[in-house]
Amino acid sequence: AFKPLIFSGVQPTGNLHLGNYLGAIRKFVALQETMDCIYCVVDLHSLTAQLVHEDLKDQTRQITAAFLAAGIDPDKHIVFNQSRVMQHAELAWIFNCVARIGWMNRMTQFKDKAGKDRENASLGLLAYPSLMAADILVYRATHVPVGDDQKQHLELTRDIAQKFNNDFSDRIAELGVGVEIQMGDETVNGFFPLTEPVIGGPAARIMSLRDGSKKMSKSDPSDLSRINLTDDADTISKKIKKAKTDPEALPSEIAGLAGRPEAENLVGIYAGLADTSKEAVLKEYGGQQFSVFKPALADLAVEKMAPIAGEMRRLMAEPGHIDSVLRNGGERAGVLAEANMKTVRDIIGL
Ligand code: ADP
Ligand code: NA
Repeated sequence: AFKPLIFSGVQPTGNLHLGNYLGAIRKFVALQETMDCIYCVVDLHSLTAQLVHEDLKDQTRQITAAFLAAGIDPDKHIVFNQSRVMQHAELAWIFNCVARIGWMNRMTQFKDKAGKDRENASLGLLAYPSLMAADILVYRATHVPVGDDQKQHLELTRDIAQKFNNDFSDRIAELGVGVEIQMGDETVNGFFPLTEPVIGGPAARIMSLRDGSKKMSKSDPSDLSRINLTDDADTISKKIKKAKTDPEALPSEIAGLAGRPEAENLVGIYAGLADTSKEAVLKEYGGQQFSVFKPALADLAVEKMAPIAGEMRRLMAEPGHIDSVLRNGGERAGVLAEANMKTVRDIIGL
């Protein structure tokens, strides 16, 4: 079997929000206790959203500061930015030749981001999942903690790994570099693992505070729709107070949240922040009005987020320290990536 290894990435585009924190970063922190982890600021990916940047390096430092402020240990694990390890881009090119255009065209994120004028979207936006597969598989990572929105990209990552393993099965066997992979009743030998997402819990998909049908997102034009990791206590309280809700009291059972996406979202946020379940939150607040629940949620959010924001500000005042974390992480990641790429080049015959 493959050695368990965690990989995940966050783009340096705009402010980090509560969805990124609860859906991804908090899981990164929890997993580092028991697993080897590689956490990456995916600056190359951010070029698909915005090619010309004034402040890409600074945005990269911000995400790194958030990782560190949330509690990721860059000495025990690896924290770096993607563009330092060119093997990501090299493997992405190979995966561009493995993957099929039809696979990419089916991605809902591509359809959303490209909008109506798909012919005019960048080729990078279409090929994004191929670079994401390379980010993960260049380390032969076995698990990826992500929000629910990334599920489809992880499926594609497995499709790419499987097609590569299958297309090159003879070479992999000849070189003796395969690892046994259990697929149903069958055992196959592959060079790349079939990476599993780590999704779940009450906060896998945090919705906009203004519209329960849209996910909380960096790209939402309304700042009231999200809580940013760097919002101060007053701003957090104000945004929760203004969050869209319905006039009913909270139910005491989960079933009572059906058809009430805004209420369910706030309960999920509470559960995520308190590290408990939606059931447990409803046990405590069932029968209460939002006039009671919202202030409690605001207090909890401030209690959990303010220390992270404070630590981020402290770290951002020392850009030299952040850069040295990234440099050091990049060197260690580069050694691992190059060892795997050497084998990939051998397999392909490059
Ligand atoms: P965004 O989706 O805001 O542009 P990224 O694509 O960089 O941010 O995502 C970083 C991580 O945060 C990913 O693992 C993603 O799944 C997770 N994530 C993003 N938005 C949410 C959300 N609303 N709820 C839960 N997780 C989310
Ligand atoms: Na995303």
